[in-house]
Amino acid sequence: MIDADRIAFLNGEFVALGEARIPVLDRGFIFGDGVYEVIPLYARQPFRMEQHLKRLQHSLDGIRLANPHPIAEWERLIGELASRQPFADQAVYLQVTRGVAKRDHAFPQGAAPTVFMMSNPLVVPSAEQVERGVAVITAQDNRWLRCDLKTTSLVGNVLMRQLAADRGVIETVMFRDGHLTEASASNVLIAHAGAIVAPPKDNLILPGITYDATLEIARDAGVPVEVRPISHAEALGADEMWLSSSSKEVLAVTRVDDKPFGGGSPGPLFRRVWEAFQRWKPH
Ligand SMILES: Cc1ncc(COP(=O)(O)O)c(C=O)c1O
Repeated sequence: MIDADRIAFLNGEFVALGEARIPVLDRGFIFGDGVYEVIPLYARQPFRMEQHLKRLQHSLDGIRLANPHPIAEWERLIGELASRQPFADQAVYLQVTRGVAKRDHAFPQGAAPTVFMMSNPLVVPSAEQVERGVAVITAQDNRWLRCDLKTTSLVGNVLMRQLAADRGVIETVMFRDGHLTEASASNVLIAHAGAIVAPPKDNLILPGITYDATLEIARDAGVPVEVRPISHAEALGADEMWLSSSSKEVLAVTRVDDKPFGGGSPGPLFRRVWEAFQRWKPH
């Protein structure tokens, strides 16, 4: 259900979410021609805002769209949006599209970008999910080759996530050309023989802010970290597999394709890194 009274932001104004309107010719609607970010806030304190705004710039550069706001203005707008919500732990969603224009694939001349933001309650995994781990399925990654851009053209990810939903599991972990990429809305890391192994942040995966945070926390805790391609056989034979994202934080995978994985319960490295993550995030 849409929370119609919640305060959102559209093109310079704070408005009720249920009142926010865009024209049907918005290129975000017509072409998925836009980019977005999701920034978690714990107790109204943004987590890694600077890194999220840097990734926003990377996505905007990737689709050749000028950033409508300087960083300080984004920070002010996000802060104001967050201060207008009745809940403290938030996931601020922001989206910039190439604006409203006559339908033509080529970029329009002089269209103003559409800037939309809303904030939802940040729902992190339940104690049971952390304790028992979660189930995933695997699939071939059939998305485009610019998965490093956080674009609103998400139908490839939507179809992957629905495969998981159809099977009653949390995520679809993808492989391309025999190597692990990521999941439909999270990054995937493995742990083997006491080390964490992560796929490189190339054009085939979203450079996750939580992925970076997890690797930093692991290094600080003295856990060896390797960043390199991971084969299908290595991923499926690993001691541990984890998902990471702004809302999942870091979460252990304990079933893959209907079979127990890693002994069927979260492994020791997961517990260590999860605990460090909890201490480390804003309170
Ligand atoms: C495809 C994909 N990969 C990875 C992530 C994780 O990124 P982050 O940790 O910045 O939330 C997301 C986040 O939603 C995603 O959609």
